[in-house]
Amino acid sequence: MSDFPVLSQLIDRFGRVVSYLRVSITDRCDFRCVYCMAEDMVFLPRKQILSLEEIQFICQAFTELGVSKIRITGGEPLVRKGALELMQQIGRLPGVRELVMTSNGSQLAQMAHDLSAAGVKRINISLDTLDPVLFKVLTRTGDLENVLKGINVASEAGFQRIKLNAVILKNRNHHEVCELVQFAVDRGLDISFIEEMPLGAVDSHNRAEAYYPSHLIRQDLQQRFTLQAVPDKTGGPSDYFLVQGTGSKVGFISPHSANFCSSCNRVRLTAEGRLLLCLGNEHSVDLKAVVRQNPGDMTILKQAIIDAMQIKPEKHEFNIHEQPVILRHMNATGG
Ligand code: GTP
Ligand code: 5AD
Ligand code: SF4
Repeated sequence: MSDFPVLSQLIDRFGRVVSYLRVSITDRCDFRCVYCMAEDMVFLPRKQILSLEEIQFICQAFTELGVSKIRITGGEPLVRKGALELMQQIGRLPGVRELVMTSNGSQLAQMAHDLSAAGVKRINISLDTLDPVLFKVLTRTGDLENVLKGINVASEAGFQRIKLNAVILKNRNHHEVCELVQFAVDRGLDISFIEEMPLGAVDSHNRAEAYYPSHLIRQDLQQRFTLQAVPDKTGGPSDYFLVQGTGSKVGFISPHSANFCSSCNRVRLTAEGRLLLCLGNEHSVDLKAVVRQNPGDMTILKQAIIDAMQIKPEKHEFNIHEQPVILRHMNATGG
């Protein structure tokens, strides 16, 4: 047994407090979104992936070090066997105030109620288009109808909040931003628009050509909606606006056109057990090696995490006009 509660905080060299852990529980996914992966993506062999017990142990270490928000991501987290039970256990860790999840929506029609019962408070669901043909083009294998069903079931399942995520690509789906906001407003959901990030090589489009900056999306939306800025800064990358006259918020995640690194409060655990200190840099610590070399040793694991804070970079180094310097794809990282 470890001696919780420990009154501690993770603080990096720039004085930022890390209170949020994003955990990719699998790199596998049933979709192959064009901005996320190549079509012939090769996934990691099973024994390279953290076991569910290892993930839970690492999450416990973080909560004992003051992390209170954990986001479960993938790949698609719900394709991993045992995902639900893992979330139940993480939700029960003392110190976890917010257990949240990011999903592509493909399994939500079946699983949304169980997730809510397991203690998942909020979910983010990817939805880039409302056109079934374009949805197939963008996800390569996804079925829009099934995801819409998942969103509807999730809306009734008792989550505190549901947010849609739309990655906007010029000349693919940029013309749909108003429809997507209307879809969110009609269902009382929030929506974030995301500028594509150069993580791993993709083969379907040129990222610089497909770049559609957040300020253009905002201009497009202002033709139809009135957006009121809200000071909803939670250390996250989104700038939020309330859609006037509705309960829905629109967020813009703009890694290229706005830099939010100075308020970064998060680190990431990859499916392989690397602790990534920044989405846009390769600085990492191999926590899988730490837990496998010192099974059950919470003290050593916590010290490794504390030491890792010393290498958290000041900011990301994205440049969509160059070949990606970050070779890992988003599915291995969890967004
Ligand atoms: P919150 O946890 O509520 O802040 O949600 P979120 O919007 O960060 O989570 P979600 O999983 O929906 O992520 C949406 C996208 O935001 C991710 O896929 C990334 O594209 C982007 N994002 C999240 N965190 C970071 C970050 O630290 N840096 C950068 N550049 N982008 C991020
Ligand atoms: N750039 C920006 N967002 C991406 N996502 C996946 N790959 C990329 C990328 N290269 C988004 C997904 C999902 C979230 C977890 O990350 O659409 O909403
Ligand atoms: Fe899967 Fe999400 Fe990547 Fe799409 S963006 S392929 S849904 S991990």
